[in-house]
Amino acid sequence: MSRTLIVNGTLVNEGRVFEADVLIEKDRISRIDSAIPAAAGDRVVDASGCHVLPGLIDDQVHLREPGLTHKATIASESRAALFGGVTSFLEMPNTSPPTTDKAALLAKYERATSRSYANFAFYLGATNDNIEEIRALGAADACGIKVFMGASTGNMLVDDPDTLEKIFADARVPVVTHCEDTPTILANEARYRERYGDDVPMSAHPAIRSAEACLKSSSLAVDLARRHGTRLHVLHLTTARELELFDTGPIESKRITAEVCVHHLWFDESDYAELGTLIKCNPAIKTREDREGLIAGVQQDRIDVIATDHAPHTREEKAARYFEAPSGLPLVQHSLPMLLQQSRDGLFSLEQIVEKTAHNPARLFGIVDRGFLRESYFADIAIVDLGRPETVGPENIQYLCGWSPLNGVTLAASVVTTLLNGEIVFTDGEVSGAPSGRPLEIRSR
Ligand code: DOR
Repeated sequence: MSRTLIVNGTLVNEGRVFEADVLIEKDRISRIDSAIPAAAGDRVVDASGCHVLPGLIDDQVHLREPGLTHKATIASESRAALFGGVTSFLEMPNTSPPTTDKAALLAKYERATSRSYANFAFYLGATNDNIEEIRALGAADACGIKVFMGASTGNMLVDDPDTLEKIFADARVPVVTHCEDTPTILANEARYRERYGDDVPMSAHPAIRSAEACLKSSSLAVDLARRHGTRLHVLHLTTARELELFDTGPIESKRITAEVCVHHLWFDESDYAELGTLIKCNPAIKTREDREGLIAGVQQDRIDVIATDHAPHTREEKAARYFEAPSGLPLVQHSLPMLLQQSRDGLFSLEQIVEKTAHNPARLFGIVDRGFLRESYFADIAIVDLGRPETVGPENIQYLCGWSPLNGVTLAASVVTTLLNGEIVFTDGEVSGAPSGRPLEIRSR
């Protein structure tokens, strides 16, 4: 029987940091204990000086397949994910064609089965006229329903009030929302166009995709969810003010939860001068006060999940002027090292990082037997070295688009080894083996 034994590591799991060995048999963790003896034939992974974390579950990525494969593919980005210790992802529906019916969902699952290097699940996209698809959707079909309550990449705005009421009333799986009020944004755009024509400066982005637009839309989502008792997860908060809408406390006690993305915790509007359209994203990166508010929101457990909104576009596309440059940035390879850097800077504890990137996504979406270092759970594991810095550069960026907003930045920690379903799939800077990602099993909660 194939066994892998991780020895001498420091585990971070369920609020504790402790030394223990981890024994893996086939695809699952069979024992967590001190000083587990190795048997003949065991693969032994020496994690001396390293921390052993549950692999990350990124609940918001855009992998561009089908239809946008010049930007990214399931294979390219899921492979990059393994470099970053991300072992599972939940993928968004704004592909081409969009994932707005059961047939498109099934096709995505089928496509990912032979191509994904990480475990996967997919969202169904809501439209103004697919309520019957939404009503028919159960936990076995999709991880959730994505509602663009603000227009963004792909043309998937849901703005019909009756449709929104029906979605929030009838959904049987979590509803996840992109919240930006489009009429507010269009009015802001018009004002800036009047002043600058087509040459609106990138620094106007947070004033166009404004804090008011976010608050108005997320308030509407929370109101709908409260009235209908919906399981709502508001994606990528970007403002301090929106935090008022969310309760503090453990995720088990909530039906309305919130996510923040690593770039909104990392960058603020002062970064537009240097990075320009590379950090253009929706919702926009906003002020320093907003960034600090979001960090506090994580610390206070008002924000439940940290993800990436990994959204690659080509360099050429990003080189366009403000209005033409698409929104989104690639992050899935670097989210964990970014958070570990922020932990080193005193913003988050390791336990908080694990809670928000692995435990809580598993709890929120009902992902079976993943997201924790627990006996009998799948062995999806990231081994990280907090003392091994890595500088992000062209030679180590794995995204198909070939660039990162962190180019030239040295992050204090790196991912050394990633295990997926019990197998070592990334170590010594190399991914080994064919794509072996599996569909996530989801049980409604
Ligand atoms: O910046 C973004 N990019 N925000 C979104 O909502 C979509 C994403 C994309 O798909 O490019």
